[in-house]
Amino acid sequence: MAETVLREDTFRRLRDIIYEESGIFIPDTKKYLVEKKLSPRLGARGLAGFDQYLELLSSGRNAEELNCLFDSITTNETSFFREPEHFAALVEHVLPDLLGRSGMKGVSFWSSACSTGEEPYTMAIVLREKHPAARLSIYASDISNQTLEAARRGLYNSYSIRNTPGCYLAKYFKNGGQLYELDPEIRNSVRFMNINLADGRKFLTGMDVIFCRNVLIYFDARSKRKVVSGLYDSLRPGGYLFIGKSESLHDVTRAFKPLIFNNTLVYQRTT
Ligand SMILES: C[S@@+](CC[C@H](N)C(=O)[O-])C[C@H]1O[C@@H](n2cnc3c(N)ncnc32)[C@H](O)[C@@H]1O
Repeated sequence: MAETVLREDTFRRLRDIIYEESGIFIPDTKKYLVEKKLSPRLGARGLAGFDQYLELLSSGRNAEELNCLFDSITTNETSFFREPEHFAALVEHVLPDLLGRSGMKGVSFWSSACSTGEEPYTMAIVLREKHPAARLSIYASDISNQTLEAARRGLYNSYSIRNTPGCYLAKYFKNGGQLYELDPEIRNSVRFMNINLADGRKFLTGMDVIFCRNVLIYFDARSKRKVVSGLYDSLRPGGYLFIGKSESLHDVTRAFKPLIFNNTLVYQRTT
């Protein structure tokens, strides 16, 4: 039986590794969460306790276990049409502005913490519905391989699709009992990849729209600044950044121009 009690000093060292590798900041008050989320890793690796786990992670930063750690520690809550004002702003204001620019050949979108795919697939659905003739590329990424695998499968439960308008549900999903299978054309219109927001070296470039929603909340001020500055560089001048409705760029950067569309804040790279 593994010793699943996490000592204070071991917690601190684990927490530091998580922060260095992912930007996710875990305060002292959340030790219980680390204990709960990571104790299954002890069994999976046949380890006697968290000290051994720490050793395993520290030995050359075991890349395989780091991926499992990211799968375990991240919060992947999402759904289709989450914060729907963003999608309305996207099709009613942002895309018309981008398409109206002279010399604009195609528009590139990046869902940069896409979890199990509901966010980029919602983009794909609304963009196809409202701008069927536009030439669009949609990229989606996350730090967790497990969520990316689920995203590529495109099978969702009723909780995930609960906010999807009925007409889109009927048109883009096949209900086979418990699960809803996403239309293969929508599935194939999104390219998924693993990108860690704490590692700016792999960031996409030449993007016109970036969604980075409901992930900045897990970062401290330093990580947020680093990530947002990287996203700024990923955007073309005039490109747009969407963050979660409960998140803010206050104290993070003044480099973006805040705009209000459909009652929601959207940020634009001006230069
Ligand atoms: C709460 S979900 C948000 C999903 C979606 N953006 C939404 O708003 O519905 C947060 C996602 O951020 C991902 N994440 C956390 N840290 C990350 C990092 N350093 N790089 C990339 N993704 C990260 C998690 O794996 C998780 O899937």
